[in-house]
Amino acid sequence: MKSQTGLAIVDLDEEGVDRAFRSDVLTGLAQRQKAIPARWFYDERGSRLFEDITKLDEYYPTRAETEILRERGGEFAELIGPDRAVVEFGSGSSVKTPLLLEAIDPAAYVPLDISGDFLRQSAAALSEKFPRLPVFPVEADFMRKVALPDDVHHLRKLGFFPGSTIGNMVPRTAVDLLRSMRSTMGADEGELPLLLIGMDLVKDRKVLEAAYADGDGVTARFNLNLAHRINRELGGTIPVEKLEHVAIWNDDFARIEMHLKARESFDFEVAGKRFTMAAGDTIHTENSHKFTRRSSNTLLLAGGWTPLHRWTDGEGRFSLILAQATEHRDAP
Ligand code: AVJ
Repeated sequence: MKSQTGLAIVDLDEEGVDRAFRSDVLTGLAQRQKAIPARWFYDERGSRLFEDITKLDEYYPTRAETEILRERGGEFAELIGPDRAVVEFGSGSSVKTPLLLEAIDPAAYVPLDISGDFLRQSAAALSEKFPRLPVFPVEADFMRKVALPDDVHHLRKLGFFPGSTIGNMVPRTAVDLLRSMRSTMGADEGELPLLLIGMDLVKDRKVLEAAYADGDGVTARFNLNLAHRINRELGGTIPVEKLEHVAIWNDDFARIEMHLKARESFDFEVAGKRFTMAAGDTIHTENSHKFTRRSSNTLLLAGGWTPLHRWTDGEGRFSLILAQATEHRDAP
């Protein structure tokens, strides 16, 4: 599948190396606090490990959000109404997306994803479940404004961004994304779009840390897979056995941080460049921000969205928020 510009989104060099991956890794490892963007977790093995994470006893977010989608369909239908174009930011999950589509009876479904492979697979699976629903997959980087297919221009839009994926972004990036979503859905061209967004909630730090450091070590394998991927794809020599998975709650920033921590000092190479880690040094690999009712409202408002309604699961662990694009930027 080609992107809107006609270029494949993944840009490979002569040797088949993903240029963006190499550049993010080399830049990130050269920093004083080493850091690599979390999006690089999701190669084939990483995506499979994430699927395994969602089934862990300790990892509540997927179950809690699915519970809301299962139980609140009637209220979604009432507040959102039928005949919208559902624009999903990401390829969609085989469980959550059908629950929403069944509840609100939309006129079209438009999944946006940077990975054409995921996009094609999940769009095909969805078409099988909803044979009469027009599906228009778009291969695009949704961090920027995406041109939606002409077929859905006349329809009112509902953006769908479940999973608390917004929590992976620092506030500045999250606000950029929320603003891009407004543009993508035509907020400045008349009809004000809606957004249904999942945001995980602040809770006891022991519960949070356990969700990101499970007893079976699945999350550890997910985190360490990034080091393996660097070795595999970028000719890296990271001694993975000298790294350990760490998940800690950062209370000032209300986020779980995942790191890969050096058990002892070592040198290594990636794509011909040399790096060093001292014992105790870490590579910061992920943030997962958690929200309160007020902090989620503030983030949405900062991104140009007015919260209308919020649902939480029975145990108050996770929230799904319905927001509408804010009309006036110059309100008092
Ligand atoms: C896919 C970003 C929602 O932050 O909870 C799960 C990813 N990382 N365990 C999250 C993740 C470690 C997950 N999100």
